[in-house]
Amino acid sequence: MEATQERKERQEGDISSVFSSLSGEAAVELPARFGELKRQIIGDETNQRSLVESWSRLTKRLGQAAEEIDRKKQNCIPQITYDELTSPSSSPEVIEAIKTTGAFVLKNVIDRKVAEEWLSQTKSYIKANPEVKGFPKDDKQVFELYWSKVQLEARSHPRALEVQKALLNLFSNSKREGNEDVSTKVALSYADRLRIRHPGDARFALGPHADGGSVERWEDPNYRKVYEQILRGNWENFDPWVIQDRVKAEQNMYDGPGSCGVFRAFQGWTSLSSTGPNEGTLRVYPLLKELGAYTMLRPLFREIRPRSTLTQADYLHSSNWELDMQSTSFPGSPLARCQEYNDNTHPHLELNRTMVSMPRVEPGDQAWWHCDMIHSVESTHNGTEPSSVLYIPAVPLTIQNIRYIKDQRINFLKGKPAPDFPGGIGESQFQGRGLDSDITIKEGRQAMGLEAFEIPLDLKEGEKILRRKANEILGF
Ligand SMILES: [Fe+2]
Repeated sequence: MEATQERKERQEGDISSVFSSLSGEAAVELPARFGELKRQIIGDETNQRSLVESWSRLTKRLGQAAEEIDRKKQNCIPQITYDELTSPSSSPEVIEAIKTTGAFVLKNVIDRKVAEEWLSQTKSYIKANPEVKGFPKDDKQVFELYWSKVQLEARSHPRALEVQKALLNLFSNSKREGNEDVSTKVALSYADRLRIRHPGDARFALGPHADGGSVERWEDPNYRKVYEQILRGNWENFDPWVIQDRVKAEQNMYDGPGSCGVFRAFQGWTSLSSTGPNEGTLRVYPLLKELGAYTMLRPLFREIRPRSTLTQADYLHSSNWELDMQSTSFPGSPLARCQEYNDNTHPHLELNRTMVSMPRVEPGDQAWWHCDMIHSVESTHNGTEPSSVLYIPAVPLTIQNIRYIKDQRINFLKGKPAPDFPGGIGESQFQGRGLDSDITIKEGRQAMGLEAFEIPLDLKEGEKILRRKANEILGF
């Protein structure tokens, strides 16, 4: 296995470097070329007309959606069991609910006792290694930990891998000869942090944001292609569940400190505690297609009259908005950061009443959200117990992703932070860190790049080619 990597190591730090809202940065005007980009996307008169009509339909829909979401609250979020998701005959209603919402709670993935044991082992690991970095520095809760034995076990747990594959499988990846660009049959292990949020905490308050870069969604031609229907004025035809263009998208054009070096189809966490609404949990905007459409159309429009002069309904009405052919403004899209949302930048989402907290999770349950999903963390934790999660996403096999796994493997073997995260010596000197020999399950080892992928004869040709290339990159 290679001892060096080409990927540049990141500066030491913690999660506050990722969000302009956590680090307290002010909004910065984008360069002039973004005005040009915007005009190019808005296009000719035919497209302009389609966009205006589309915007009118969408903003009307968002108003109704806000009412619905506000009324249903947690009932908007599907709660599905492990068996319902992974069974070969999972019901079309279950799948439809996940696809419409874009986020859900998955119950009974890991045995409750095992998950509780994971929490106590994690606490012991932190105690044995008090030099561990975390945020906030004086009361650490989001830990710069990637290689605890618990994390290795949780990532390679057979039921965790089954879930990840079932989720990847929700994306359509239909190529008759098999796809050389992406396999939704193989889940890779992306090492991320863990959080143990204390009752009373109000500092780890992440505002609404979407991962996967910011202006890249418009600026990178491959990324933009994912949203082509929306940018042509047909938002209703946008399908967030097509994987082909997503895996080719460049999500990090500006070397953002919090950018993700892999295409992550779903972000997710596994809960180690019993945590409900108002206890520092995750919030989402529970309508996937609508939020994708609004995200992409928003910078193409500007208000005519300011909010202060109108009622809320008149301000939001499509007659108060027009195509923006002049400014460079992409609201909530600072360079090198993730896409952020608030009531000023994205008023039609009515985030104050539409960001819904996840229903209560118990130890061993998981929360999942689609890569476009707007998500936030509740600003205060009013519960009585720590709210604790292991971040473990669902990552398909692609060439870009396997290159990352190769670099991640180098860091893992040295005990250094995973390549996407703040650098330094990490856990290399820690007592009780997880090692290569701790990952014993074959599929879990393959997901970490520690063993070659099998290439069964009955696989489609494209998939065989992809797996061969992946093995080659990993040096097998
Ligand atoms: Fe995020």
